[in-house]
Amino acid sequence: MNTYAPHESGEAIEDKVESLLDEMTLEEKVGQLNQLNGSEHTGPAVSEVDKEAEIRAGNVGSILNVDGYEKRKHFQRLAVEESELGIPLLFGYDVVHGYRTLSPIPLGEAASWDPVAVEEMSAVAAAETSAAGIHWTFGPPVDLTRDARWGRAMETSGEDPHLGSELAAARVRGFQGDDLGADDTVLACAKHFAAYGEVKAGREYNTVDISESTLRDLHLPPFKAAVDAGVGTVMNAFTDHDRVPAGASDHLVRDILKDEWGFEGFVVSDWNSFRELIYHRVAEDEREAAQLALEAGSDMDMVGHVFVNELVELVEDGVVDEAMVDDAVRRILRAKFLLDLFDDPYRYFDDQRRDSTILADDHRETAREIARKSIVMLKNDDDVLPLTDPDTVAVVGALADSGDDVLGDWRAQGNPDDAVTVLEGIETATNAGTNVEYTKGYERSGEAPEPLREQAVEVTADADVAVVAVGETWELSGECSSRANIDLPGEQRELLEALRETDTPVVAVLTNGRPLAIPWLDENVPAILETWFLGTEAGHAIADVLFGEHNPSGKLPMSFPQTVGQVPINYNHLPTGRPAEKAEPGWGTSYIDVPNDPLYTFGHGLSYTTFEYSDLDLSAAAFEMDEQIQVSVTVENVGDTAGAEVVQLYTRDLVGSRTRPVKELTGFRRVELEPNERREVTFEIASDDLAFWTADEEVAAEPGEFEVMVGRSADDIRSSASFELLD
Ligand code: BGC
Repeated sequence: MNTYAPHESGEAIEDKVESLLDEMTLEEKVGQLNQLNGSEHTGPAVSEVDKEAEIRAGNVGSILNVDGYEKRKHFQRLAVEESELGIPLLFGYDVVHGYRTLSPIPLGEAASWDPVAVEEMSAVAAAETSAAGIHWTFGPPVDLTRDARWGRAMETSGEDPHLGSELAAARVRGFQGDDLGADDTVLACAKHFAAYGEVKAGREYNTVDISESTLRDLHLPPFKAAVDAGVGTVMNAFTDHDRVPAGASDHLVRDILKDEWGFEGFVVSDWNSFRELIYHRVAEDEREAAQLALEAGSDMDMVGHVFVNELVELVEDGVVDEAMVDDAVRRILRAKFLLDLFDDPYRYFDDQRRDSTILADDHRETAREIARKSIVMLKNDDDVLPLTDPDTVAVVGALADSGDDVLGDWRAQGNPDDAVTVLEGIETATNAGTNVEYTKGYERSGEAPEPLREQAVEVTADADVAVVAVGETWELSGECSSRANIDLPGEQRELLEALRETDTPVVAVLTNGRPLAIPWLDENVPAILETWFLGTEAGHAIADVLFGEHNPSGKLPMSFPQTVGQVPINYNHLPTGRPAEKAEPGWGTSYIDVPNDPLYTFGHGLSYTTFEYSDLDLSAAAFEMDEQIQVSVTVENVGDTAGAEVVQLYTRDLVGSRTRPVKELTGFRRVELEPNERREVTFEIASDDLAFWTADEEVAAEPGEFEVMVGRSADDIRSSASFELLD
């Protein structure tokens, strides 16, 4: 369903847009394309203007990062009551994983492989955001991350286009609902268009140099899914594609997004990114930057002032066609009408709704539910977990006692004081008979001075089990937080080595926003829980899993390397002419010093129960382009604990006009099973699901043989078969 659909007839809105446009001077039109910054800076400093004067003069269409509800209301009043045309402002903000009630970072949510839960949580975020007087979130980020060094991995759904597309659509539905004019929905923004996740060497803002196939097959599908779900806005990437910065790329914006996909919303730059066309050295000055961006199809200038400073003159000089300005204005006005801002510009300022909505108890419940589902049990030797009635639990690590860190980056109004720490979660979950002993072990900076280490060893030695929180502090993952080393920070490993000398079993609780290279941990610690940055309810969710209240079902949305030297490492790679597993020894696509396999592969995640797969069945051995095939498999919970399994379906196109990946996720289904319960799970595959950027330069499926594989992760395939796609 396309949610970017008018709640009154589309025609009525278009008429209103046209008649307003007719009334506008060129200056007023250009004003709508201008976005100012409020107070908080989410990018390098930009020149300040007198905001109130600019609003009154009709030179502002939108403001981001406005500090507080009252300030937003005040600015809205200026726009509506004191500017000539009284066009309401759009307030934008980065609500990426919640407004005040935070859910796991998007990479964490992706580990739930649960689009329904993700949609629900986005709806919670929308309710809180709109109750705060904000109309527009700069989310969802739908970039694909191929390189774990990139700090913004935390904002994304990981390495896979199919999972990324499902979650992109779910988030758009959650934010926008089916009526943008409703009180509790907000305009969404799919960002960053496109292929930002391919920055070379994972280094922030670096060059992107990829083929059209990589763009089309990997990076565009989540954007296309967001557009098909009706996303109202799209944000340009800072990066370039084929040597053209994204905001000035007519190939990306005009040709693909607007023409090929028929996108009707508007495109906003990233922070100052139009001006940065000058630093990319494709524009000589602001004037050329403004011209290039508008001509490429970008519509709104975030904080760069180049549109507002240059476009009027560019039109008057006959360089830029006013029709292009009109098209951009139309798109922005359309969004304002769809949000119902003209009927009642103050409708998002309802004090009572604000007070009863933000951080509501049921929102925290929803956050706890998705946080539990996002935890991935990477390892559990000798069934160390779940913990059953330990007399003494040692809780170790600065991260275990930090409400700040569980929130992660892009935390909007998330407040550490609201957050449940790992320690608090464990204390709440244990009964009076259990003794919980906390010891810091290392500093938040990562240093583990001797006295802290010794004390941790003592406390651990006396305990039945040690829960050791290790990993990244929140600042280590996010924008501008690329890392060249992705192992455990500081001296955490040294601390773990010391704890290992005791006989007490250690459970590592990992906090991080990207895959880490942790082979030592894997070899030396019996149980590892990947908990990302789980948000406001982190501690409760972690305790739920530690003590068996919740059976873990999360699966990795990104492969974890054995060493940073393997990065980028992705399960859906191409076969090459010398596939490692088939080549004569010594002549395969491989390293001489490390294996090709990741430490933990995409899709990996353990459970407290055991699932068995049987009876893979295809409805036909061959099908036509316009038909579908059903693939079914039976999954049984053969353990004695109820649990959820994410059944993963992969396909392989055996021969193509271009090289095809060794495996591609084509479907997944999350099923909850009681002990001894079995369920038949059925997937439908249509030719569209098998499409790729062919040698004919179109997205299409090609006839031929396909392998279909069903399993628990990309490297734990339980059953396979094949079918033919007919011409
Ligand atoms: C980020 C965007 C964000 C914008 C506004 C930029 O630095 O790249 O993702 O939406 O700031 O805060």
